[in-house]
Amino acid sequence: MSDIIFKRRSIRRFLDKPVESEKLERILKAGMQAPSAHNNQRWEFLVVTDSEKREALSKMSPWAGMVAKAPAAIVVMGKTDDESLRQWFEQDLSACTENILLQIAEEGLGGCWMGFYPNMERVGLIQKYFNIPENIVPFSVIALGYSEDENKFVDRSDMSKVHYNTY
Ligand SMILES: Cc1cc2nc3c(=O)[nH]c(=O)nc-3n(C[C@H](O)[C@H](O)[C@H](O)COP(=O)(O)O)c2cc1C
Repeated sequence: MSDIIFKRRSIRRFLDKPVESEKLERILKAGMQAPSAHNNQRWEFLVVTDSEKREALSKMSPWAGMVAKAPAAIVVMGKTDDESLRQWFEQDLSACTENILLQIAEEGLGGCWMGFYPNMERVGLIQKYFNIPENIVPFSVIALGYSEDENKFVDRSDMSKVHYNTY
């Protein structure tokens, strides 16, 4: 059993301490290590550390307030210009986002996934503010940094949800 999967929780309060660039790089590499349909790897990332830009990003969703206080945020984006791959876009970028969250925990940091796609109003706000071309679609935003809170383990296992061989 992987410890980190069970330790990861959403962290929304951060210490005023920057994230080391080596940690950030390993976190991004973990995202790029995710499985993707046809191994298409059509993800791109926008790292936002500038405080003014984080403040603006924090206002682009009603549930993204913590981005203003986090030392960094990663916008996970997908290149959607190939119609045959577009259908797998959500699954590819979800796997990528989860890999990032797990590596954040592995690095001794905390993070929180914020849903942007498929809310096209939020997607459009990010694209416009950060000059992102139309075919590059912001999918999720992850706030990260040193956590102010302890990651509390909760046991969510419920074996009654598992069906063997037939429902
Ligand atoms: C698709 C998705 C969107 C989410 N969006 C937000 C969000 O906008 N703001 C937020 O604070 N948390 C967001 N979360 C985090 C969930 O609230 C959190 O994962 C859930 O409450 C379980 O808690 P845990 O992550 O600590 O295990 C999102 C999670 C997912 C998977």
